[in-house]
Amino acid sequence: MQTNTVIIGLQWGDEGKGKIVDILCEDYQRVVRYQGGHNAGHTLIMDGKKFVLRLIPSGIFREHIKCLLGQGVVIQPTALQEEIEELKSHGVDLDGRLGISPACHLILPYHIALDQAREAAKGGKAIGTTGRGIGPCYEDKVGRRGIRTADLAHPDILKDKCVQIAKYHQVQLAAFGLELPMTADELFDYLNSFAEMILPRLCDVPIDLMQVHAAGGAVLFEGAQGCLLDINIGTYPFVTSSSTTAASASIGSGVGPAFLHEVIGIVKAYTTRVGAGIFPTELKDDTGRKLQELGHELGSVTGRERRCGWLDCVALRRAIISNSVETFVLTKVDVLDSFEDILICDAYDIDGEIMTIAPTDTALLERAKPIYTTIKGWQTDTTALKTFSELPENLKNYISILEEKLGVPALSISVGPDRNQIIEMPDDFIIIDEEDSAQTYS
Ligand code: GDP
Ligand code: IMO
Ligand code: MG
Repeated sequence: MQTNTVIIGLQWGDEGKGKIVDILCEDYQRVVRYQGGHNAGHTLIMDGKKFVLRLIPSGIFREHIKCLLGQGVVIQPTALQEEIEELKSHGVDLDGRLGISPACHLILPYHIALDQAREAAKGGKAIGTTGRGIGPCYEDKVGRRGIRTADLAHPDILKDKCVQIAKYHQVQLAAFGLELPMTADELFDYLNSFAEMILPRLCDVPIDLMQVHAAGGAVLFEGAQGCLLDINIGTYPFVTSSSTTAASASIGSGVGPAFLHEVIGIVKAYTTRVGAGIFPTELKDDTGRKLQELGHELGSVTGRERRCGWLDCVALRRAIISNSVETFVLTKVDVLDSFEDILICDAYDIDGEIMTIAPTDTALLERAKPIYTTIKGWQTDTTALKTFSELPENLKNYISILEEKLGVPALSISVGPDRNQIIEMPDDFIIIDEEDSAQTYS
């Protein structure tokens, strides 16, 4: 039996999930997105050519793989159409390779208008959403008035739903002095215009996955956003509106939890965050700016500057526990190549109490003072290195310290944005003991 794998970001998103999914999916038959929408921006670089995927799973460049959007994904039809067209224009064959659950909710122009109006009204207290209508769409889903992909097959039902949802959003938008961006009739016509794109691709996702697995194949689940943006355990209310944890791969694709066999966490070697919200290890100084510049930390969806700070093991430990993470891939290691000293947050001091696992109470987190361990940098260009044995000793040491602090082994490390810039960890890499590591960091 093959292993079905969940890949999730363990920080605030943009850890490099797209790149790693693209690399790891080679041995899989399906790649499934199971939550979020086009708020995601997953970058893949192959032979210097760059693609940013928003909705379509990062397995799309491997011809033997079928990519699926599970029931937990919210779809903005124009964004999906644009992405399909763009991929086609680059010669990517999508025929029979993109399946969509009939239960995906559609992001409507009303949702986008509401998301943006709410953010504007909040002024300095805005969440800093991507403005893509994600929150309002999920609200309509749990409010049981949303429009789903399968509704496109039933014009009578769709028409009625358009009328009902237009009534609801007229009131919502009026509170901000706005009118509906389109009438119920226009909404009906707008949605109908996507029937041809969506209906032939509808797919009973869990049945398909079960059949693939029964035939000896394997499924890779591609998370979007990051664990710290999760609606439950994230830094609420500065979070996204879906559950971004590994368990969501089951709910968001429709398979049972036993279908998921392993969870790989993606960890960026430092921390970034787009939008507002608590960020204990944020650096608002030259070091933060250096990370931002060297890491090209600009949002792949909105182009906003990402806030930067040191790696936060306290937050990562929470993420590892909440996601049953067994191994991790460390990305953007090359961004640290020129640093003399590299800091890792090992504990928080919250009102005098030392905590090594982040609390989920945001009010407590606001008062967290990071306690750092300093590790000697390797000050060597790693971007052209291909094997573990070539790594500078200080980097090997850094990885082993991280493994020891997180309690899980590294699977591979990424030393550049290209598909080829990846180094596998050897099976026999030993987690060093506290005494050895103490010689190399203070
Ligand atoms: P995702 O949302 O988790 O898929 O990540 P994004 O694509 O939004 O952001 C990651 C950014 O870092 C992209 O620009 C990638 O091309 C880039 N990237 C990924 N891995 C590496 C790496 O190891 N080193 C460097 N320098 N850049 C990387
Ligand atoms: P990927 O998959 C980074 C952030 C937004 C905002 C908050 C809520 O590329 O890692 P939303 O529009 O979802 O209601 O915004 O979540 N956010 C992300 N940050 N990477 C992402 O996706 C994100 N998707 C949403 O910046 O702070
Ligand atoms: Mg991203």
